[in-house]
Parts: sequence; C-alpha cells; structure tokens
Amino acid sequence: MTDIQMLPLRFPGGKRQLYSFVYQVLEENNLIGCRYIEPYCGGAGLALTLLLSNCVNQIFLNDIDHKIYAFWYCALNMTDQLCELIEKTPVTIEEYRRQSEIYRSSKDMLQLGFATLFLNRTNRSGILIGGPIGGYEQNSKYKIDCRFNKNKIIGAIRQIASFRNSIKLYNLDALDFLRRIKAMQFKTKTLLFIDPPYYKKGRRLYTNFYIHEDHCKVADFLANDLRYLPWILTYDDADEIREIYSNYDVPYIMKRIKYSAARKRYETELLFFNNLIIPFQGKDGDKIFDNLELFSEVKENRQELAKIHHKLCQTAQRSH
Ligand SMILES: C[S@@+](CC[C@H](N)C(=O)[O-])C[C@H]1O[C@@H](n2cnc3c(N)ncnc32)[C@H](O)[C@@H]1O
Repeated sequence: MTDIQMLPLRFPGGKRQLYSFVYQVLEENNLIGCRYIEPYCGGAGLALTLLLSNCVNQIFLNDIDHKIYAFWYCALNMTDQLCELIEKTPVTIEEYRRQSEIYRSSKDMLQLGFATLFLNRTNRSGILIGGPIGGYEQNSKYKIDCRFNKNKIIGAIRQIASFRNSIKLYNLDALDFLRRIKAMQFKTKTLLFIDPPYYKKGRRLYTNFYIHEDHCKVADFLANDLRYLPWILTYDDADEIREIYSNYDVPYIMKRIKYSAARKRYETELLFFNNLIIPFQGKDGDKIFDNLELFSEVKENRQELAKIHHKLCQTAQRSH
C-alpha cells in the first residue's frame, strides 16, 4: 500500500481525517476498488488518500473554483513545470505580493496554479484572505516559509501525478457535474462523497459559497436523481440542513471532527447516507460500537445509534 506523504493544498474542513471511516464503509459495502466521485473536491485529501492506498481505482474530482482547478490541472498535466517553479521561487513577502497579483489577474494556467499553491501554503490557515503567515512585518515566531517545505511539496505532487491516469478532473458547478455523472449511467461499483460548502460558515471560508436554495437543490438532486448510486454527504451541524434532509427521509449520524484551520478545535458535523449504504453492518451491537472511535457523542447514546442502524438495515433490505 502506498500512502500519500503530504497533501499539497491545506484546506479548511479537509476530510482526509475520515479516511478510516470511509475505508470501513467501502469494505462493509463491498465497494473496495470502486470509482469514487467528489463534486466539491477542494484539497481532495480523502480522495487522494483512498486512491494512493488502492482502496479505490479511479477518482473523479470537481471544483467550481477555477484557481483550485488550475492547481490540480498543473499538478497532473504540467508536473515538471510546476515543480520547477516550486524549486526556484523564493518564499518571501515580496514574492507573496507578486503571487497575490498573479492570483488576482492571470489567465495563464501554470502561473495561476502555482500562485494558488504559493498563497495556500503561505497564508494563515490556508485561507486565502488570511494574510501572510508571520504578517507583512515578519516579526512573529512563524515566518512566511514555515509551511513551504519545497522537497515535501514536490514529492507529494510527483506522487499524485504518477496516478494521473486514474484521476479525472472537472471545473464545473457541482449540480452540472452531478448531471453529467448521472448521464454516464455508471452501473458498476461507485461511491459519491459529497462535501458542499458549509451552511453556516461557507461565506467566510470559501470563495464560492451557497445560499439556502442552493443547498435545497443539491438535496433534491441527490435524493431523487442520484438515489440509485451510493452516496455519503457531510455538513456542518445546522438545523436548516437537518430540516432539508428530513423531507427525504435520509438518515444521518453526528460526528466530532477535529479542525486545524484556525486553531485546533472540535466541531460537530452531520453525516448523511443514502439507503444504498450501510455504515455499520455488524449484527451484534458490540461490533458496531467497536468501530466508532470517531463518533464519540453518538457512542454515548447507544440507543440512538441502534435505531439508526436498524432503520438503515431495513431500508437497504427493501431496496435489494
Ligand atoms: C467544504 S469544501 C470541500 C473540502 C474537501 N472535501 C476537502 O477535503 O478538501 C467545499 C468546496 O466546494 C467548492 N464549491 C463551492 N461551491 C461550489 C459549486 N457550486 N460547485 C462545485 N464546487 C463548489 C469550494 O470551492 C470548496 O473547494
């Protein structure tokens, strides 16, 4: 098994930490080796970790953000040129200003892809409006280059690029992308992992964010048009999201997830499954709970989880 050394992009809300959980879902649902699709890929940490460890055979990555797309495009298709830029560009405040200008105005894929990487790794928290690590005066303990280990970044990009034949890249609005996926009529093993912009903090974290109606449209498409493909959906814990999905009778569980974007903290998120996925197959409760490290507060409430599991088994049996 190859493991990915590091992820080139730092990403607020990155889902790589769900790797063991999703691996378990793949295994229990006979989906190892499947096609894996992310309509909101961002830093693509989970998708790449699954691909590089051979848990899935092919990944489809989509993001509407043209700059994120430019980075992934260069990593996969202009690998040598991108690595050369990483190698020879000084990581200084002057360069930070220059790359910020390129990021704002360039149309050139290589320049844009590199500027995205440069700013992502030199900005506070990887958030592009965060300002340079260490401030413009550089008088803090952490300097602008402290997250820019050139050898490691180049190593990670080359490692990912060696899987380029198994990666399909798109730069579409997620709903257009999902329509395209539907039209492909996949019949063999497929899993969709859907991680839309947060309901509550999306505006602050991402260049592209959703309003309430957009979240509703996604729910409708997933629950109706894509009900025949297994999918997992993650969200921040917002009442509005629980309400939207309650209309479709899609079960969810809650989990605590650790974020390092701003400072280390835990937040509760919602994980929804459609009825083609059974997250915990075990017939006896103990097996279910043994596998639940991530879901600490659900673990405290065995009854709630047992109910969810029971319901999932029933819906899955009905659809077979
Ligand atoms: C929660 S982040 C995804 C993080 C990703 N799962 C990871 O682990 O790095 C949401 C992503 O959705 C993208 N996005 C926002 N609106 C979109 C849209 N309408 N269509 C496609 N992508 C969109 C943002 O650019 C952002 O990268």
